[in-house]
Amino acid sequence: MEATGGTVLNVCSVLLFFFLTEVSSEYIHIPTLVHHGIEGKSLLLSVETHFSMDEVEIQGTWSHTRPSGTRATLVTFTKESSITDMMYRNHLLFREPNVSLLIRKLNPDDEGDYTLDLNIEFHNKTGLVIKEKRTVHVSVDVPVSSPVIEKSPSSAVIEDKANVTLSCSVERGTRVVFQWLRDNIALGPNDRYHFSQDNSTLFISPVRKQDKGMYRCVASNPVSPDRHSRGVELNVYYGPYNLEVDSVQSLRIGEVFTINPGELVFFECRADSNPPNSYVWISTSRNSTQVITEGPRLEVRFYRLAQAEEYLCRAFNNVTQKQDEARITLVVASFGPGKEKHIQDSGSVSPLAAITVCSLFVIGCMLLFFLRRTCHPKRGHFRSRRDHIVQVTRMQRKTSASMNLCLYLGKWNQHRRRAGLWLVWSRFRICTPPSMM
Ligand SMILES: *[C@@H]1O[C@H](CO)[C@@H](O)[C@H](O)[C@H]1NC(C)=O
Ligand SMILES: *[C@@H]1O[C@H](CO)[C@@H](O)[C@H](O)[C@H]1NC(C)=O
Ligand SMILES: *[C@@H]1O[C@H](CO)[C@@H](O)[C@H](O)[C@H]1NC(C)=O
Ligand SMILES: *[C@@H]1O[C@H](CO)[C@@H](O)[C@H](O)[C@H]1NC(C)=O
Ligand SMILES: *[C@@H]1O[C@H](CO)[C@@H](O)[C@H](O)[C@H]1NC(C)=O
Ligand SMILES: *[C@@H]1O[C@H](CO)[C@@H](O)[C@H](O)[C@H]1NC(C)=O
Repeated sequence: MEATGGTVLNVCSVLLFFFLTEVSSEYIHIPTLVHHGIEGKSLLLSVETHFSMDEVEIQGTWSHTRPSGTRATLVTFTKESSITDMMYRNHLLFREPNVSLLIRKLNPDDEGDYTLDLNIEFHNKTGLVIKEKRTVHVSVDVPVSSPVIEKSPSSAVIEDKANVTLSCSVERGTRVVFQWLRDNIALGPNDRYHFSQDNSTLFISPVRKQDKGMYRCVASNPVSPDRHSRGVELNVYYGPYNLEVDSVQSLRIGEVFTINPGELVFFECRADSNPPNSYVWISTSRNSTQVITEGPRLEVRFYRLAQAEEYLCRAFNNVTQKQDEARITLVVASFGPGKEKHIQDSGSVSPLAAITVCSLFVIGCMLLFFLRRTCHPKRGHFRSRRDHIVQVTRMQRKTSASMNLCLYLGKWNQHRRRAGLWLVWSRFRICTPPSMM
């Protein structure tokens, strides 16, 4: 990219060189066609001649055309002599051998176009007169003095209620161009910024918060570089704006703040305002409004709450007489310090994000629960109970069978009939299929 840029530049300069040589292949060249002269200083209207005076005869004039249109011949010259108009005898100096003209002590009357008419006849080419004509423009200016800035009213103003006028003036200087800067950024007209015809006055109507800043004016003209005035501070009273309540120790969802039981929690109320706001915290629970504390910070500690607590932070700017309020609702519930950390890290969490996180957490818990049940059948409620019952039943059956057998053998003789009945009963029980249980 840079290489191509360089090439283009080179080509350009070569072309320019050819162009210039084309021009300078003519017999005279005037390096500067527009002069910005300074009043009181001298100015040389210089001419380069591309021939040697030895090989030519010349004859010519310098004349002056004022902006009004009046024209006067200043100097008539040949190679040997020059005649300067008597009116300008002390004012002008014709310079041989290169036919330049020096104007001494420029004054505003010297403004206008200066024309050089020149006839050239080469010795080796007698009879052929070459005519050259060039015009140079001259302006005469007074350098600009340091600009002075003024602001009205000089004191601070209230947003939307006041207008501000800034004016810039210079003691000396002609054709002065004014420019305005706020915090070093140039200002242009808009629906609230109005400039006077010459840009020397800036009228702000009405003034706003964003107009606050350091104002400077810059004055310049063709013979002076940018001259900066001193800075003037415009102070605008505004606000409160962007009232916000913040608390790092609590979990926030919209206006609802959840705090850990027993923890000391701070709520910070903040708003943009000039001058700084005064703040009050008001409790609005249980139908009564009550000022709890003055200042931006509210401290609370709750172990439990029967119902949500409602608070109001009110910011008041006593200069603009404007106020703003923010409502919060307080709920006490345990949430881990990890969560607290997370909230603190992520700054303000949107309610939607919080709900999503909670839902995912619940779904995750349910999945875990089911997985554990499926993978550990011993712990499974229904299956373990059933196995247990079957096992116990089998043991009971064996025990009762052997007991009945002993009973039967021991008492066989004495209670034959009864034992027989026992046996029948026992057998019946032994033969009872397990599936009946
Ligand atoms: C013309 O001549 C004057 C006086 O000799 C000299 O000061 C000036 O530099 C010359 N100008 C040019 C363009 O040669
Ligand atoms: C006359 O002299 C000039 C300068 O030396 C030269 O450039 C030019 O070509 C000459 N003209 C003729 C016709 O010889
Ligand atoms: C501010 O200027 C507007 C016109 O631009 C005018 O109507 C208003 O009265 C002015 N306010 C003050 C306080 O001068
Ligand atoms: C005033 O300033 C504006 C830019 O801010 C510029 O466009 C305009 O030409 C200036 N007018 C004068 C008279 O200097
Ligand atoms: C405005 O409030 C500030 C404190 O915030 C106080 O210093 C100042 O005196 C008050 N001004 C008025 C006019 O009440
Ligand atoms: C609160 O106000 C409502 C209606 O405004 C009223 O019915 C209720 O009794 C009030 N409660 C208390 C505690 O004052």
